[in-house]
Amino acid sequence: MADMQSLLTEKRVFKPEKEFAKAANWNKKKIAEYRKLGEKNPTRFWAQMAKEHVSWFSPWKKALDWKPPVAKWFVGAKTNVSYNCLDRHIEGENAWRRNKAAIIWEGEPGDSRVITYGQLHREVCQFANVLKSHGVKKSDRVVLYMPMVPEAAIAMLACTRIGATHSIVFGGFSSEALRDRIADAGAKMVVTADGGYRKGQAFGLKAHVDEALKGGRHPVERVLVVKRTGQKVKMKKGRDIWYHEEMLGASTHCPPAKLDAEHPLFILYTSGTTGKPKGILHTTGGYLTHVTTTTRAIFDLKEDDVYWCTADVGWITGHSYVVYGPLSCGATTVMYEGVPVHPGPDRWWELIAKWGVTIFYTAPTAIRTFIRLGDEHPERHDLSSLRLLGTVGEPINPEAWMWYHNVIGKKKCPIVDTWWQTETGGIMISALPGGVNTKPGSATLPFPGIHATVLDEDGQEVKPREGGLLAVRHPWPGMLRGIWGDKKRYRETYWGKWKNTYFPGDGAHRDRQGYFWIMGRIDDVMNISGHRIGTMEVESALVSHPDVAEAAVVGRPDEITGTAIVAFVTPTGKAKAGASFQGALKKHVTNEIGAIARPADIRFTTALPKTRSGKIMRRLLRNIASGEEPTGDTSTLEDFNVIATLKEGDE
Ligand code: WT7
Repeated sequence: MADMQSLLTEKRVFKPEKEFAKAANWNKKKIAEYRKLGEKNPTRFWAQMAKEHVSWFSPWKKALDWKPPVAKWFVGAKTNVSYNCLDRHIEGENAWRRNKAAIIWEGEPGDSRVITYGQLHREVCQFANVLKSHGVKKSDRVVLYMPMVPEAAIAMLACTRIGATHSIVFGGFSSEALRDRIADAGAKMVVTADGGYRKGQAFGLKAHVDEALKGGRHPVERVLVVKRTGQKVKMKKGRDIWYHEEMLGASTHCPPAKLDAEHPLFILYTSGTTGKPKGILHTTGGYLTHVTTTTRAIFDLKEDDVYWCTADVGWITGHSYVVYGPLSCGATTVMYEGVPVHPGPDRWWELIAKWGVTIFYTAPTAIRTFIRLGDEHPERHDLSSLRLLGTVGEPINPEAWMWYHNVIGKKKCPIVDTWWQTETGGIMISALPGGVNTKPGSATLPFPGIHATVLDEDGQEVKPREGGLLAVRHPWPGMLRGIWGDKKRYRETYWGKWKNTYFPGDGAHRDRQGYFWIMGRIDDVMNISGHRIGTMEVESALVSHPDVAEAAVVGRPDEITGTAIVAFVTPTGKAKAGASFQGALKKHVTNEIGAIARPADIRFTTALPKTRSGKIMRRLLRNIASGEEPTGDTSTLEDFNVIATLKEGDE
């Protein structure tokens, strides 16, 4: 949770260190040159990046075909993501990378694996052949429901190798959420594991898949199961197969499919303002160009770096900056299976020391958790390998930024605060560590070639320090290509506010130096620990409980998670308000969506504050949930007594 007031008054400026700046992949001069080109001709800038950072089987005829709101990048070109992430690092002049660590994986119980580019290439080819042998073809959808194990990355890359479109469902989502996503994507196959480890316990995944596929009305033909925990699972004959058994006989030879630049790479579901999550579609060439370029420039990746992004592959950060970006750059990427505080509050710092991590990318919510746990934990470990730090997911409050800078970075590591979204595919606004001064709490400046600005409702640019809406004026290569199966929603959600301009849903302002300060979502989407949950989604989960008549959900500021979910619930006549009903409802939401959507508070009320036209007054509920006096206009409120009763329930 960023303290919005302090974001307006923050004055500190940090300059890149001389040594760092001198050695940076993108130095001041290069940045200035790219900014100039990117401003004048973003298409040409990105075409140059595509040539420099991506290997193509055949060139494009046109760098950008823009028929708003439909963008096609690198039209007619052919490439393959797994080729860029694997083959090009083990052939020709790069052949030495065959024995470089591609993935350093650490399991929560302490087991670990180091997988070289050569080995990863073999396993990906084998798994691609397994997919083929079970009938998966180009453009088929494969749902991955996985713990953070190397097989998750292997499955992703194997899909890209044959042109199957993956859709990862975060392992923390419930079987209900999984069922909806499988149906919406029309997936032919699910790749899962028996389970994974979290907080010292084995949790189940396969059992959730079974539950999601119950009743038989689904498009799934095969379920491939990775053995991770060894827990007992049921294997359905003719449908379920073990990964390790299939891999045994599989050939290691599988040429990468030559795919169109606009071939669907993956679908990733994210929350919106309705109850139904949106399947965000990303394609091949543009996405790869965006993530490879930004990984190299923003994280200043060098050959000998050990790069660790703590995100789960179930989120966009895991896609772009755990797997595709770093592997496409030929880097060593760390994957960690479990929670940050198991078995002790210093697990992450221990891992940094153990593997000699040089670049570390995490979320403000994690940083705030560690602040509270105490400095003695990071101080017990040798963090001197670190040279660059990153943050993503929500605005970072200056206090957390300073702690990250002082205690983790020992005042010598630049911090890149990166603003982007599931929809943008890659980073849009961020410092470049070799040549941009940083200010605690600001994501600084748009990446070259990104035309971000701050507008008012009418599409006019606002003055410095005036609040407005973040906007992007020109398409960029990693941009979403649509919402799976819903053209209209795509058009309306992202392109409906202004003409030919992208609306991300965030509030922002710029200071006099043009630095962006992101103020958070302005729609009915909450940001819980850096993850998006729609208020409507939680509301629909609540009202699907037979004893709930009506529900309204809002966020309130929370010191650790940024936002906490508060639900106002009107029970049906027979239900008894009280602790046990609260517990039952929290459990119900966990079952319907997943633990991230579990309300922190549930308050019972006989009525919700509504306008005369029947709209729930969320602003008012937000005030009450945060313990503030209701602000703003309440004249349209239908029943004034409601406020009094809501406040009474507020102990
Ligand atoms: C929303 C996107 C991008 C990967 C993680 C979240 C917020 C993200 C920042 C940042 C301020 C940020 C925005 C955005 N957000 N990064 N550096 N500063 N806000 O992806 O689930 O698609 O959520 O996260 O509100 O719209 P996501």
